[in-house]
Amino acid sequence: MVAMQPSQLATLRQTSNARVDATLAALFDNRPAVAPRLEAAMRHGLLAGGKRLRPLLVYMAGQALGAKDDALDAPAAAIELIHAYSLIHDDLPAMDDDDLRRGQPTVHKAFDEASAILAGDALQALAFEVLASNAHPRLGHLVHTLASASGRDGMVAGQALDLDAVGDHPDVDALAHMHAHKTGALIVAAVRLGGLVAVDDDDPRLDALTRYARAIGLAFQIHDDILDVTGDTVTLGKTSGADAARAKPTYPSLLGLAGAQRKAHSLIDEAIAALAPLGERAAPLADLAHYMIERDH
Ligand code: IPE
Ligand code: IPE
Ligand code: MG
Ligand code: MG
Ligand code: MG
Repeated sequence: MVAMQPSQLATLRQTSNARVDATLAALFDNRPAVAPRLEAAMRHGLLAGGKRLRPLLVYMAGQALGAKDDALDAPAAAIELIHAYSLIHDDLPAMDDDDLRRGQPTVHKAFDEASAILAGDALQALAFEVLASNAHPRLGHLVHTLASASGRDGMVAGQALDLDAVGDHPDVDALAHMHAHKTGALIVAAVRLGGLVAVDDDDPRLDALTRYARAIGLAFQIHDDILDVTGDTVTLGKTSGADAARAKPTYPSLLGLAGAQRKAHSLIDEAIAALAPLGERAAPLADLAHYMIERDH
């Protein structure tokens, strides 16, 4: 597969970010807020920064299978809404107790804990409202994909395992299992949502996309663990060293930094190999796989 120029990935990111940011901002425009403080907390957690990588995966996976951007806008916004909710709750004192997110005070710091809990709840519901607002022949599949990746079989399950593991020394399989849920599930959902806009759920290309997404999802969280050790707070936009301070088991704590980096690289090779059945149209996804572990924040 021929790699793209780095500038092409940057252009695709800009286009994707502009589309999803417009969809998300429009959710707050020209409507009277029933609860203005709640809406302000939702905007703070959703609109202020963030790399928007899950929406980018929706667009790229959909485009690789021939979907039109217009049909990808709702799923792209929906996955970012779930992600933003997960971050707001992840930062709460009862969970990771973080003060900084996306270079800003976390929602419970800028507002208060109750507002952060409610903003997360409302963003989660809004994700499904947005997803369901478009008529689509496979809407049931789309809703099921997002719901199952978010809840007790997906992200929330991973967050529960993460909190249970504080102070533990799990083996690498148990850590991979936790990461696959807390982070991998939404990344797999992003590519499947994009793919399902274009093709039926028994299309074998969706299996290839899923194998790709499982590998980049784990690599993404390993790199997040690495950045917590090697990054600085200003570049990260969140407090570095937070995992060690909270005795979180991570890839660097289990394998060392070099071991964690080796694992992340081999997962990216695995991800790119999984794209073979998709041919040249998957070149942007291959480049994004590299970016997942080369990013500095
Ligand atoms: C952070 O995700 C939480 C993890 C799952 C590691 P991102 O690194 O995608 O955060 P934003 O959206 O860019 O802030
Ligand atoms: C978060 O993992 C995964 C979520 C579901 C939000 P982390 O706790 O490592 O994410 P950061 O480092 O706070 O962004
Ligand atoms: Mg966490
Ligand atoms: Mg955290
Ligand atoms: Mg982290």
